[in-house]
Amino acid sequence: MSKQQNKLSTICVQGGWQPKNGEPRVLPIYQSTTFKYDKTEDMADLFDLKASGYFYTRLQNPTNDVVASKIAALEGGVAAMLTSSGQAANFFSIFNICEAGDHFVSAASIYGGTYNLFAVTMKKLGIECTFVDADASEAEIEKAFRPNTKALFGETIANPVCSVLDIEKFARIAHKHGVPLMVDNTVPTPLNCRPFEFGADIVTHSTTKYMDGHAGTVGGCIVDSGNFDWMAHKDKFPGLTTPDPSYHGLTYSESFGKMAFITKATVQLMRDLGSIQAPQNAFLLNMGLETLHLRMQRHCENAQKVAEFLEKNEQVAWVNYRGLKSSPYHALSQ
Ligand SMILES: Cc1ncc(COP(=O)(O)O)c(C=O)c1O
Repeated sequence: MSKQQNKLSTICVQGGWQPKNGEPRVLPIYQSTTFKYDKTEDMADLFDLKASGYFYTRLQNPTNDVVASKIAALEGGVAAMLTSSGQAANFFSIFNICEAGDHFVSAASIYGGTYNLFAVTMKKLGIECTFVDADASEAEIEKAFRPNTKALFGETIANPVCSVLDIEKFARIAHKHGVPLMVDNTVPTPLNCRPFEFGADIVTHSTTKYMDGHAGTVGGCIVDSGNFDWMAHKDKFPGLTTPDPSYHGLTYSESFGKMAFITKATVQLMRDLGSIQAPQNAFLLNMGLETLHLRMQRHCENAQKVAEFLEKNEQVAWVNYRGLKSSPYHALSQ
């Protein structure tokens, strides 16, 4: 096992919840809608984002935040938030920087639910998406960009076609056009690929899949690398770089720096759209994450054996698995 695999395995088990002396060994479930304060002023400061803390679980909950911090550590990001589903994670990521009249570009080979969200539902909100062949040349993909383009999106390993995204290529294109690269990293999980290391800016997850791992809880997560400089493209991202009237004119980028994206998604989108993950589900997700390193290794070993077996079988017309040398994505995925 490599040094990095060892480190990630340790985070799976020990990351997130760090009990102090005498505190519970296992992450507690904060099954509480509200949090108690002695003074009205304490609550007022939380409402106005002058202090950090918890007051209402629709926005934030301590159990969720601990699990989000474990996923942030696994991905190597600066901040993360849990959502009620993977759909909510992808919706929030785009909607956090796109509004009516804006446009974004996405790889065409993505999960069908995400495709519908981008092609049909986002359109009803006035946000248009252009789909591109992720394997096309940089010049070809760049043709999809417009002056009002705000993001580039792709899946590391697309569900269900299993194509592998050239994250470095996508990051180059996104950054050339002054927009962040968002990568849905559901299928490989950070145990097999950490998109920030290849230039992605925002990572999303459907934690419903391998992260939970027991088919028990639907959930999602958004992680920010903290690397995208919103202020360098001030005019493109007014939601992050100009005052928010719903917080007395606070500007997220100025007040929260590298935490701006996740803070806005939490205090504005989660407040208004309410897609929080239930703390019970976050607890179960954390249990799943504790064995993610073991399960992913076994999944990959099993899949490799099945793929090799099928490839040798004369009755099988074709096998699509990136672990096989015959896959056009073999070299890229290595
Ligand atoms: C790659 C990917 N992203 C997002 C989603 C949506 O996640 P959820 O079902 O948790 O809403 C899925 C679901 O299959 C998926 O496979």
